[in-house]
Amino acid sequence: MEILLLNIRQLVQIEDQQPVEYRAGKDMLHLPLIADAYLHIANGVIQGFGKMHEIPDHLLDAQDDRFVIDCTGKLVFPSFCDSHTHIVYAGSREMEFVDKIKGMSYEEIAQRGGGILNSAQRLHQTSEEELFDQTMIRINEISRLGTGAVEIKSGYGLSPEDEIKILRVIKRLKKESDLTIRSTFLGAHAIPAQYKENPSEYVDLIINEMIPVVASEELADFIDVFCEKGFFSVEDTDRILMAGMKYGMRPKIHANELSMSGGVPVGVKYNALSVDHLDYMDDKDIDCLKNTETMPTVLPGASFFLSLPLAPVRKMIDAGLPVALASDFNPGSSPSGNMKFVQSLGCIKYKMLPEEVINATTINSAYAMGLSSTHGTIAVGKVANVFITRPIPGYEYFPYAFGSDLIEITILNGEIH
Ligand code: NIG
Ligand code: FE
Repeated sequence: MEILLLNIRQLVQIEDQQPVEYRAGKDMLHLPLIADAYLHIANGVIQGFGKMHEIPDHLLDAQDDRFVIDCTGKLVFPSFCDSHTHIVYAGSREMEFVDKIKGMSYEEIAQRGGGILNSAQRLHQTSEEELFDQTMIRINEISRLGTGAVEIKSGYGLSPEDEIKILRVIKRLKKESDLTIRSTFLGAHAIPAQYKENPSEYVDLIINEMIPVVASEELADFIDVFCEKGFFSVEDTDRILMAGMKYGMRPKIHANELSMSGGVPVGVKYNALSVDHLDYMDDKDIDCLKNTETMPTVLPGASFFLSLPLAPVRKMIDAGLPVALASDFNPGSSPSGNMKFVQSLGCIKYKMLPEEVINATTINSAYAMGLSSTHGTIAVGKVANVFITRPIPGYEYFPYAFGSDLIEITILNGEIH
């Protein structure tokens, strides 16, 4: 399909003269755009874009197989890249939500066998086919909400069979969904009840039995560990990352969600692609991330849903770091994959400016899932994943109208949805 978008009020997040992999520090305020623009898409990729008055004549010649959309008053953005989700899960956990409203903490719920272990039990009882069907509903939901690429973790299996079940579902989603998907092995998400007295045996199981199978079936692009008090220690994390890296899986770490966990330095030590959550951060962890290839990633939905302290995003950006934002879509700490709402939380709760949240959810989050060469900006040759808004005054309006559905048309791989 060939598509031509005309009279776009603002074509946002175009690649300007100097392509970069991500934007950091003051540069996060840089948001290149073209007012009154056109965008030409064919063969699934972006072919060209520019000012309306500079559009090449041949594009305006009528052609039967070219679909023309008049975007007067409307904005076009690159689709969101959601670099951290646990979207493959069975059932839901709204009863724990009620317990939390009544005053229980996330840790208390986990300690009495709820939380991740609750989801693991449900997943164990769910067939691979059913798990795929339940997940596809959420995949379709986030694609309607403007997401074009998503990272998905395992971690609700916690046994070799069930972890593989999740990763096979992800592999099938990669083929059957229109989203670009990256997969992460997170066997180290929680200690199963039967290993409670001897957690290092579970770490051995991950290293000796799970990682080799995951690698041989090519089921994961990345490896993750929930490095946290009561979950996996820095030593466990160290061992697991080393084992995964031997098989070519680059780390992405859950760090500092509930405490200063030591996850940032161990992630940086192994050149993690990202360290995620960061609700607790001190100056040492901020310094540790400087001049590294590790993307600090903040998950505002989880902090909002669990009323956790807010990551010191302003301080991190002012220290020159880049920041990515992702949804953490999962049944326990963030039952939403709405990246537009994540942007709004970034502005409202973290005092990020609209330009910063747009960079954090497109170019920077593309980097955090290894997709910066193909996604995250409007650039010639990149995958044609974009969305068209309803008529709105300008890009600042998008995170401002936090509850409004402003997305009118989504285009994935150059196809209208
Ligand atoms: O990213 N922190 C660990 N994992 C998820 C929560 C998982 C759950 O509660 O089911 C998170 O917040
Ligand atoms: Fe998570």
